[in-house]
Amino acid sequence: MNPFVRITLLAATLLLAAGVSTGAAESLKEVFKDRFLVGTAVNRSMVTGTRFRRSPEQNAKDIALVKEQFNQISPENDLKWQLIHPREGAEGYDFVGADAFVNFGLSNNMYVVGHTLVWHSQTPNWVFAGTNPPPANIASNTNAPGTNRFGGGFGRYNGPRASRDELLQRMRDHIHTVVRRYKGKVKSWDVVNEAIADGAGTNLLRNSLWLEIIGPDFIAKAFQYAHEADPDAILRYNDYGLENPAKRKKLATLIKSLQAQNVPVHAIGSQAHVNVSMTFETMDQALTEMAVLGLPIHITELDVNSAASGQRGVGADISANAAATQGGLVSDADKKLAEAYAGIFRAFLKHRTAVQLVTFWGANDANSWRANGKPLLFDGDSKPKPAFDAVIAEAKKTPARGL
Ligand code: G3I
Repeated sequence: MNPFVRITLLAATLLLAAGVSTGAAESLKEVFKDRFLVGTAVNRSMVTGTRFRRSPEQNAKDIALVKEQFNQISPENDLKWQLIHPREGAEGYDFVGADAFVNFGLSNNMYVVGHTLVWHSQTPNWVFAGTNPPPANIASNTNAPGTNRFGGGFGRYNGPRASRDELLQRMRDHIHTVVRRYKGKVKSWDVVNEAIADGAGTNLLRNSLWLEIIGPDFIAKAFQYAHEADPDAILRYNDYGLENPAKRKKLATLIKSLQAQNVPVHAIGSQAHVNVSMTFETMDQALTEMAVLGLPIHITELDVNSAASGQRGVGADISANAAATQGGLVSDADKKLAEAYAGIFRAFLKHRTAVQLVTFWGANDANSWRANGKPLLFDGDSKPKPAFDAVIAEAKKTPARGL
């Protein structure tokens, strides 16, 4: 056995044998069990214990935190096209990370969510390339201007393009293969991610190669393919910035149009990458308007940025992240974070018949994509912050769902 693996497993065993806990008196999954599922994004280190972004001891503690506090998991990266299907064809899949993720969830009795099937980002260029001739470069991000380093790519693919039929065929093969592999195990999928255009402009949909090559029905087609592959899976449309009225209006237009065409969209995924300026009133309004669409609401990527420079933006693009987490934290950051989380959860609890699941985008601050903004309930050492107590207190004020 690889010595690193051995050390990690040993550290995990010792910590668990010693009954290690986060020091939290209670667990989120227990306190919220009659309201909604409470989940977290997990990374490959957590589900395999074998990658060392963290020390073995830290990784063991991260894993203990996930098991102690959460009853649902989403993959932070491992089911994205770039990772699970980096090369063309049936031989081009790499299921190592995804299988480990799904097995981790099942062996810990967690509700497993798949993220994400169709996205403008983290999609390899071969997907959009015409078969003849092959693309000249291997860039990976289809939209952001040269800032996404994921998979070593730079910028949007601009070689010869696939035809509409060719791209639909690739989309169908990908969705059928991935969804069928985890049929009955992954209960809910983010089928299309972040397709709506930002801002109050007239464009409903973001410009992307999916849109340019297939046309706006790429969304309906993706849902149709996913439904064919697993008719029992809950299929979500997932986006960020839905606390913003203009973007929410576009969401309503999109969802109503899909519903009018009988597209199998079963839930709204609201990412909720917000900041400490977020209030109960704003979240309440957002949920009230989304609930009118008649679909369950899943809060899919919750975090609350405490960085001073991150109090105006609502974007979720990794390329803008450095700018949104600079300048240190806001004053009284722990207190403001606790107040913001209290208001946000008060709104979730008020709408608990619609809100069925709340996923944090990371288990603790050290594992967050916005680590500098310290946006989660647990610090980098997995100790509960005042925001954790605030969230627990809100749960105790509110009766269970349906009571
Ligand atoms: O794994 C590679 C590593 O091998 C390499 O050496 C290193 C150097 O850059 O990069 C590592 O990959 C990083 C990857 O996360 C895993 O840590 C990528 O650079 C980085 O771009 C990637 O960021 C992810 C981002 O999506 C990509 O767009 C974040 O972890 C992930 O939290 C974030 O999640 C998104 C949701 O999927 C959709 N909604 C917004 C949300 C936040 O951006």
